[in-house]
Amino acid sequence: MFFVRQMFGQAQRRAFSVSARQSSKVAVLGAAGGIGQPLSLLLKLNPRVSQLALYDIRLAPGVAADLSHINTKSVVKGYDPTPSGLRECLTGSEIILIPAGVPRKPGMTRDDLFNTNASIVRDLAKAAADAAPDANVLVIANPVNSTVPICAEVYKSKGVYNPKRLFGVTTLDVVRSSRFISEIKGTDPADENVTVVGGHSGVTIVPLISQSRHPDISGAQLDALVNRIQFGGDEVVKAKDGAGSATLSMAMAGARFAESLLKAAQGEKGVIEPTFVDSPLYKDQGVEFFASRVELGPEGAHNIYPVGKINKYEEGLLEACLGDLKKNIQKGIDFVKANP
Ligand code: NAD
Ligand code: LMR
Repeated sequence: MFFVRQMFGQAQRRAFSVSARQSSKVAVLGAAGGIGQPLSLLLKLNPRVSQLALYDIRLAPGVAADLSHINTKSVVKGYDPTPSGLRECLTGSEIILIPAGVPRKPGMTRDDLFNTNASIVRDLAKAAADAAPDANVLVIANPVNSTVPICAEVYKSKGVYNPKRLFGVTTLDVVRSSRFISEIKGTDPADENVTVVGGHSGVTIVPLISQSRHPDISGAQLDALVNRIQFGGDEVVKAKDGAGSATLSMAMAGARFAESLLKAAQGEKGVIEPTFVDSPLYKDQGVEFFASRVELGPEGAHNIYPVGKINKYEEGLLEACLGDLKKNIQKGIDFVKANP
């Protein structure tokens, strides 16, 4: 249980012992991938999860057999890559995580993944909408700015869209921000909490440093920090040199977001995570989805907080973000309309 102690802390472990009785089935689609495997491992270590259902087009039963030897209470099952396997995997799930899809190689943008990942996410969303229409869907597959609207369109077309239950996972931007700012300030990253709003690619990632513990960061240091947060993914893609993008840090971030949703579903109040949701904040500017701080509850997204007070510098970042975001979102919507 070392990892659980490290990741979730004392107070949360106490909460685990209370709520572990509640049954939560969590499904991972793309469970044999670079993210899928460590994400599934972290979920296997989470006592809030009672059933772990793993699906992939390859190797899910093998990954499940491996994880099933870990001596935690949850039951793990891997499903065959068939329509009935996928349906069985999804049925009864409270949370569905989707890390299925191809990752970037050096020189690519996330949008370059659209052609491959759009149809993967559309087809998985169709299956989820049919088998588990009330589940919380957590989209990890890139480009998140487009794959989330793709899921929404699929659910709408099937008449089961609930905007409170669809989330683009932007937690990695928040995780990175607290780490990067702590490196500048020589602090413990656990004490740093940076709100990141907008979307999940390049300039659509808007960290609000003025709202952090270090609003004093300015000038070239601020430019460098913001750039590192916006292009943190590229740092990993470059270092992996063709072998993929962030997997381990993403697994941690995905497990953290799933844990937050489970806590909120099991009655804990005040659970807030920035996440990319169907949001009222900039709809008047034609931006249907936006990441901001969201309070989670048993119904999913309970309360979407506005961006709050930001400075001139951040207003500039936000303006650049909204322009790109609108196009990314429209691209996802248009894709499903043209390829239902
Ligand atoms: P990977 O190639 O290692 O794993 C992807 C897995 O998806 C593979 O096991 C593959 O077999 C599976 N898969 C492909 N098509 C499938 C389908 N139709 N049904 C089920 N499974 C399918 O890639 P990875 O490194 O795990 O990255 C996965 C995705 O996550 C990429 O699109 C990447 O860009 C994205 N990502 C997002 C974030 C984020 O912050 N949201 C962070 C890192 C990576
Ligand atoms: C990330 O932010 O690490 C992911 O979106 C993967 C990528 O392509 O950078």
